[in-house]
Amino acid sequence: MSLRAWFPTYIYCEPLQSRGLPQLNEDLAAECAQLRDFDQAGRRWSAVNYPGGYTSYASMNTLHTFSSTFAALERKLSRHVRAYAKALAMDLRGRTIQMTDCWVNIMPPTAAHSLHLHPLSFVSGTYYVRTPKGCPGLKFEDPRMDRFMAAPPKRPDAGPEHRAHVTYPAEAGNVILFESWLRHEVATNRVDHERISISFNYNWS
Ligand code: NI
Repeated sequence: MSLRAWFPTYIYCEPLQSRGLPQLNEDLAAECAQLRDFDQAGRRWSAVNYPGGYTSYASMNTLHTFSSTFAALERKLSRHVRAYAKALAMDLRGRTIQMTDCWVNIMPPTAAHSLHLHPLSFVSGTYYVRTPKGCPGLKFEDPRMDRFMAAPPKRPDAGPEHRAHVTYPAEAGNVILFESWLRHEVATNRVDHERISISFNYNWS
């Protein structure tokens, strides 16, 4: 049978760098905790919109522009975003990519992050700073889900590429990149420690 797959959805997952991750993550975790202490507006916003957790998404979302630690992280992430864009055959010749948003997410036990996408950007992603054993991963949804209304369900033994969801485990030191339109969520953190991540958006011009 002549059968080929088309229109793939690419998700990228790589270590940020080959060495020095534990120290970097310790520095980042300390800065994330300081930020939460300092960011009263963010704590207020999170109490309503991110129950049980803290995110600087609505209050301090350009961390790369005023923290040298986050600016250094931006430079490292940009290399990964360029590699990802290249692998997707995006023509960025004569163009530049810019990190437009960068924010912190701290998920204590019970915190969750419901299904969403990232408007006004072309590549988004997350860097994992602290991921206690058993904490939830990043769950992506098949972007064609709303077109499957008449399709039969998949067999229980269907291969992973035929399933409606895929979950990437959260692993400290890893970068996950995806196209910003791809919906994703994080299930409830059921372990007794905080899960810390840094999320970001990129645009191009
Ligand atoms: Ni997200």
